[in-house]
Parts: sequence; C-alpha cells; structure tokens
Amino acid sequence: MHIRSVFILLALLFVLQAADADAYCWRRQRRRLVRINPPTLLDPVPFGYSQIVVDTRNAVAHVAGQNAINQTGSLVGETFAEQLEQTLRNVELALEAVEADINDILKSILITVDLDPSTAEDILAASLMNAGGPAPPGIVFSSDSLLEPGVLVEIQVDVAVPESFVRRLVCS
Ligand SMILES: *[C@@H]1O[C@H](CO)[C@@H](O)[C@H](O)[C@H]1NC(C)=O
Repeated sequence: MHIRSVFILLALLFVLQAADADAYCWRRQRRRLVRINPPTLLDPVPFGYSQIVVDTRNAVAHVAGQNAINQTGSLVGETFAEQLEQTLRNVELALEAVEADINDILKSILITVDLDPSTAEDILAASLMNAGGPAPPGIVFSSDSLLEPGVLVEIQVDVAVPESFVRRLVCS
C-alpha cells in the first residue's frame, strides 16, 4: 500500500515534468525570436530598431551595432580611443543583458571612420575581444561615415547565450 503510493507519486512527477517540457517546446516554437532592449542601453524604440534579438532555437543573440552613444543619448568621447572605450562598454552591457560575456562572442564586425595607421593598434585590441585568447571570426573595415554624426566607431557582435537563459526567456 505504502510502496504503491510512492510509485503513483513518482509517476505523477514524471508526467508533470514531461508536460512542462512540452509547454517549453511549444513556447519555443511560437517565440523563436525574442527582442530585448536592456535598460542599460539607449532605448532604440523611438528609432525603430531593437538592441538585441535572441534566436531561441539556436541560443544565439544578435546585438545591434554599438557605438559611443550612452544610455541617455550622449555621444561620449571625441577621439577614436575615447569612443572605443564607451563602445566596448556598451557591448559589455548588451552581453550582460543576455548573460553572456566576451568569451561567448561568435563573430564581430568593427567599422571605423577614416582608418588611419595610428589607430590600428586600438582596432586590433578591440577585435581581440575575447580577453586574451584567439579572436573570434570577424571583420574590421573603414567607412566614409557612420549613421550618427560624429560617431567614429561601431561594433556589432553575435554571441552564444546559455541554454538556461533561453529557457527563462521563453517561459517567462
Ligand atoms: C552619458 O554621457 C553624458 C555626457 O558625458 C553624461 O552626462 C551622462 O551622465 C551619461 N549617462 C550615463 C547613463 O552614463
């Protein structure tokens, strides 16, 4: 009698867990792409874009190109080096919002205005964004100008995010 009720309880737990997994998969199908605009970054909604979109099926986040414009909309820094610092800070804030860090970067694109040899070292440092190890695949190139006046550098990254983060994202 006692053993039978333990068995029934275990069976019930198993069914509940399976149902939970089904619900998870069902939500996952329905919400493949989840957009995130972290409060630590500039609100992009008035400008018609999203800061981050998470591909929940692949556990990858695509982060909008970051520049030296901070959360309150000010362009921080006049030189390339100053702007690079704020840009990297914004990239880090975006990564924090998806529970990733620089070691999780899959690919990066760095665009600079009027590439000159004296800034090449800074560019190299920025492209080696995974803290000392080999850099992820990426490209660095120069452009005549970027979208925002005065912006000298922009960095776009794609990053692997933890499965636990994706699960909370689709189930919340
Ligand atoms: C953004 O930059 C401006 C100008 O440097 C500064 O006054 C402001 O406090 C910064 N905002 C944040 C959230 O750091």
